[in-house]
Amino acid sequence: MRTTTLLNKDWFFKAGFQTADVDTFVNAEYEAVLLPHTVKEVPLNQFDEKLYQGEFCYQQVLPSDFLTALQPGQRAWLHFEGVMACANVYLNGKHLLEHKGGYTPFEIDITDALNQDGDNRLTVAVDTNERPDIPPFGGQIDYLTYGGIYRDVHFYVTDAASIKNIKIETPNALAEKKSVEVEVFTRGDLEDAFNHSFVVELLDEGGNIIAKQERVTEQASAKVTLSELAGLETWSVDSPNLYRIRTTLITKASKDTVEQCFGFRSCEFKTDGFYLNGEKLKIRGVNRHQAWPYLGYAVGNRAQRRDADLLKFEYGMNLVRTSHYPQSKAFIERCDEIGLLVFEEIPGWQHIGDEAWCQQVLTDVEDMIQRDWNHPSIILWGVRINESPDHESLYTRTNALARELDNTRQTGGVRCIEDSQFLEDVFTMNDFVHSGSNEYLRSQEQVTGLDYPVPYLVTEYNGHMFPTKRFDQEERQHEHVMRHLHILNAMYERDDVSGSVGWCFFDYNTHKDFGSGDRVCYHGITDMFRFPKHAAYAYSSQLSPQEKPVLHAVTVWARGERSISGAMPLAILTNCDYIEFQYGDQPVRRIFPDRDTFPHLPYAPVVLDERTINPAELGDWGLAWDGLVIKGFVNDEVVAEQRFAADPIPTALDVIVDDSELSANQKELTRVEIVARDQAGNPMTYWNPVVNLSIEGPGRIVGPQQLALIGGVAGSYIETTLDTGLITFTAEIEGFFENTIEVNVVNKSRASTC
Ligand code: GAL
Repeated sequence: MRTTTLLNKDWFFKAGFQTADVDTFVNAEYEAVLLPHTVKEVPLNQFDEKLYQGEFCYQQVLPSDFLTALQPGQRAWLHFEGVMACANVYLNGKHLLEHKGGYTPFEIDITDALNQDGDNRLTVAVDTNERPDIPPFGGQIDYLTYGGIYRDVHFYVTDAASIKNIKIETPNALAEKKSVEVEVFTRGDLEDAFNHSFVVELLDEGGNIIAKQERVTEQASAKVTLSELAGLETWSVDSPNLYRIRTTLITKASKDTVEQCFGFRSCEFKTDGFYLNGEKLKIRGVNRHQAWPYLGYAVGNRAQRRDADLLKFEYGMNLVRTSHYPQSKAFIERCDEIGLLVFEEIPGWQHIGDEAWCQQVLTDVEDMIQRDWNHPSIILWGVRINESPDHESLYTRTNALARELDNTRQTGGVRCIEDSQFLEDVFTMNDFVHSGSNEYLRSQEQVTGLDYPVPYLVTEYNGHMFPTKRFDQEERQHEHVMRHLHILNAMYERDDVSGSVGWCFFDYNTHKDFGSGDRVCYHGITDMFRFPKHAAYAYSSQLSPQEKPVLHAVTVWARGERSISGAMPLAILTNCDYIEFQYGDQPVRRIFPDRDTFPHLPYAPVVLDERTINPAELGDWGLAWDGLVIKGFVNDEVVAEQRFAADPIPTALDVIVDDSELSANQKELTRVEIVARDQAGNPMTYWNPVVNLSIEGPGRIVGPQQLALIGGVAGSYIETTLDTGLITFTAEIEGFFENTIEVNVVNKSRASTC
């Protein structure tokens, strides 16, 4: 039977690697570390990627209890979920494997290299350089690729024969009586080729067995079908019902069981839009990198899952594109659980290398699809290097391979060049045409150069066309919001556009060739900490008010913030039926959403301008300024309210932590948001005092312990050790506020479906 353990603790790490390191085990140069691990913590911005590039060495003695329990004939395995950028693995000085590429998993059978009597010394040499032989490297790339063993490592033992992978397909997902086809792939010694069986069980979320099927076969890989399954629910964005498949291989001497989540759903991009379970669904999404301040990629599963929740529940997305590489398993599992669609793509950015490099691309396609083919959330495979020029021979092969591995999903290939060769199933285009006063999206015909319609998805827009910082001046914020709204409106108007995926979720550190001089691309609808810019509400206000009432005015509300002391146009991003607006003690005005300008948005914003209000009512430069009350109504009842003070003063310091309870089973990360608020509860946007942070208990502060508020907000992170106990975290602004929050670290494993 399979036994498995997480191998994230008891690692030792040092900068530098020489071949001789594999023979000398752990000396004073090494520090003890936990995974996930980054080779270098980085500042918030203004740093060079060279900071984390080089060769590094990780070592560990494999847990002896596991090895002493190893029975004759059993196999021992290591499974790495992701190591950036190239890993060489040695056991007891013997080189076992080289894995190129930081985004795909790899496994090693270490049995034959095990030392039966003594310690088993594992060494992982990690090269974090941007090596031109590994995609995405070779040209420039607009993001950073932080190095290290930054995802989980597992150690497990199986009998001689075991299950390598399973592929779950649901051919008639929408039928009353459904079926599940499970293809089982094995490895190892099946001994008697005519005498092994695959047992496949279908389980509900509570773990109850719904159906079971056994197949005796002589084949190493075979399909088992469960059919006539009644009473099962489909997976959708609104009801992400999941089931599990438990598969057991039984031979004379071996038994091996694996479990996988899946869902019943159908998905298809057609020329008139995207269909989920036969129903049209407009895609509204953003692109996501997998980076965080200070720690780069090495944040662990809780933070990964949190991003999916933010995208879906805070910012109202129904799809995320994993630009520009396969992202963590934990993130995609969470997308399955909450019903967030995923467009996943291979690593790459504009550059295509030589034939050996192209072979690596094919390996990436295979690794990505074989890792993720059971996720119901994934609806499209991206098999073209993002924004690369045409390359017929490469893309003919990537498409053929993807279709051969998984013929249940279509392929896409993200490009930015018009008339580029269309070898995929869905034409996926980064349409950066809108620059402020022109068209919002190009016509399909213009982009594809084809005289017939094709399935079509806009995969990026805005981004570098209008970088905007969370603390930028209000007129820029307004323009930023308008660009997002106009493109969304244009996409909702058109039946030939399946949806749009904006650039991007959050600001990100990048190379000197991009960004704002501090090597940050301020392209997000949120900042690096995922704190919303005004533009984030352009998206969240598209949720229905039943899901979440939204009312957000794009203003700091001050007489002199905008040019010529104006406050109009004032956009109020809302899903309310109408708003009521009262300036000072002037009469209350009822104003309806601007459906003239945004007829196609699910929820148009309210826009205060000369059409709805006489700007003279607010007075002019030199006259007194007053406070404002905005109320949002749904079915004639107030569901949301925002107030603005005429004379904001620091009134409160909110310290909000994402999780008040963390698990000590793994190193975990949680975010802390520190917000100075005025008497009306709004952030003190231009107040920049120093905040002093301190912590007690089994956790540490990631990043500096002294910060400035920027745009009224500061972000920090707490990272746990493996100890239980109470963490207290204090934020203080001298002479003003001091606030403490608590986080309990307990022995508890993650409650998740997958
Ligand atoms: C695209 C690219 C993205 C990002 C974006 C900025 O061309 O695919 O990775 O650089 O531009 O707007």
